[in-house]
Amino acid sequence: MLPRFSPRRHFLWLLLASSLVLLVLLNVHLKPRWGGGPLGPAGGAGLVRASAPGAAPAQAPAAPGPAASLADSEAASTAAHPTQYIWPPDGPGASVKPVPFPPHPERLPWYMTNGKRRPRAVQKDPITGRRIARLWPEEEVGGDRVLNQLMFVPPEAKTEDASPKKLKKILLYNGWSSWGGLTAGQTVFKREMCPVDTCTLTDRQDEAATSDAILYKDYFRHPGVPRPPRQIWILYFLECPYHTQHIKYNDVFNWTATYRRDSDLVAPYERWAYYDPRLKQRPLAEMPNYALNKTRKVAWFVSNCAARNGRLQYAMELSKYIQVDIYGACGQLKCLRNEPEKCFALLDQHYKFYLAFENSNCKDYITEKFFVNGLGRNIIPIAMGAQPEDYARSAPVRSYIHVDDFESPKALAAYLHRLDRDDDLYNSYFRWKGTGQFINTHFFCRLCALLHDDFRPKSYRDVNAWWRGPGVCTTGSWRKQGKHKFSLPNDLEAG
Ligand SMILES: *[C@@H]1O[C@H](CO)[C@@H](O)[C@H](O)[C@H]1NC(C)=O
Ligand SMILES: *[C@@H]1O[C@H](CO)[C@@H](O)[C@H](O)[C@H]1NC(C)=O
Repeated sequence: MLPRFSPRRHFLWLLLASSLVLLVLLNVHLKPRWGGGPLGPAGGAGLVRASAPGAAPAQAPAAPGPAASLADSEAASTAAHPTQYIWPPDGPGASVKPVPFPPHPERLPWYMTNGKRRPRAVQKDPITGRRIARLWPEEEVGGDRVLNQLMFVPPEAKTEDASPKKLKKILLYNGWSSWGGLTAGQTVFKREMCPVDTCTLTDRQDEAATSDAILYKDYFRHPGVPRPPRQIWILYFLECPYHTQHIKYNDVFNWTATYRRDSDLVAPYERWAYYDPRLKQRPLAEMPNYALNKTRKVAWFVSNCAARNGRLQYAMELSKYIQVDIYGACGQLKCLRNEPEKCFALLDQHYKFYLAFENSNCKDYITEKFFVNGLGRNIIPIAMGAQPEDYARSAPVRSYIHVDDFESPKALAAYLHRLDRDDDLYNSYFRWKGTGQFINTHFFCRLCALLHDDFRPKSYRDVNAWWRGPGVCTTGSWRKQGKHKFSLPNDLEAG
């Protein structure tokens, strides 16, 4: 039976189709363009905003709060695909007053260079009587809580500066040697000017029974003495699961301290913090030209040629499509390790990209290869290691390129060639510079503050399941895991 012709239905279809066309046109018109020149005050109404594809609908930034919100609101705004606000905002949204960069020391929190702002004792919830703070993994899922912990002073301290009086003793079970520069007593807490400094260190194993916490760095051996009920055992790992001890006991550790974001005390290789989480990008017009004088393409310093994630094979494949200069044992070129500044100058002056390839692909495992060799220089790091989402949470906005965002080394090379030809596009990867700092995360200050919290008892039933369970590391690309949602960098779509 043939469908009957209905003028009414015909008209509706026409209406639908034309509104679709209109929508598409509008969308194309409004799509933010990268490298489209400086965004001056005449740039248009409202906040100029560039959101990653697939990002949740952008929200207007919160009204300017007291300086106290500088640190505390950050965690909320660093979602996997953060919305980037381009600074300075103008038009109707201009009530958001950008903090001049860098902000006045009085407004900077104490853990930033020159920062003067120190925390006060936290408030208590009038109903539950519990302190109001997000310090533990279960209190802020997905956040690393580092800044909250740095600004935490328990409510017992009434006056501004007074740390809680009771001295907490921390036993470093494996001695001083792996810590560097620590001594017995309260020295480290005083020297680092911790907001809560009423803690003391010891390395004497015979004080195990009277310690408030025992810290096991890299290695665990059961002390074999009865354990006081409130005593906290902490596992500290710096390396990734492939290179750490296999723990043979269940139910021993209360807290973990590792680079993993879901550790109780997150100890990352580097921690980026924005001066103002609403302002993550500087105007392109303010940036120096990072492409100037650079004639070479990709550089890599590497000495371990047999990493299990196949990074050397990837680099070799990449080199078929773009110049990749490999320095060290796995390549033809040499740059002496005893003159690191010369090698870094080489990066700054001649190369556009650096292969910041980790030796293992594990959750949140992002080391100084990325932070120091990459972000620390005037070069765009190309990341391989943790998942793209992990980098998005830890690195400044638009500061790197991740291999897993490309289906092959060939596709990556094509994108790198595009950046190489287009200086504005290349420089757009440096707009984060100057919007914040890599901070000292004051591990011992945070540990001391947390020991004075009225924390709830917890322990890791099977710490191995957490640390090295399924899905934590992969020997291949994360793309093959099938759980990662891939998104091309914005400009591939826009351009
Ligand atoms: C680029 O090269 C010129 C000429 O050799 C030099 O004067 C200038 O300092 C270089 N600029 C940078 C950023 O390296
Ligand atoms: C610490 O862990 C042990 C062993 O699982 C447990 O018995 C104890 O209750 C925990 N204590 C705290 C304060 O979390």
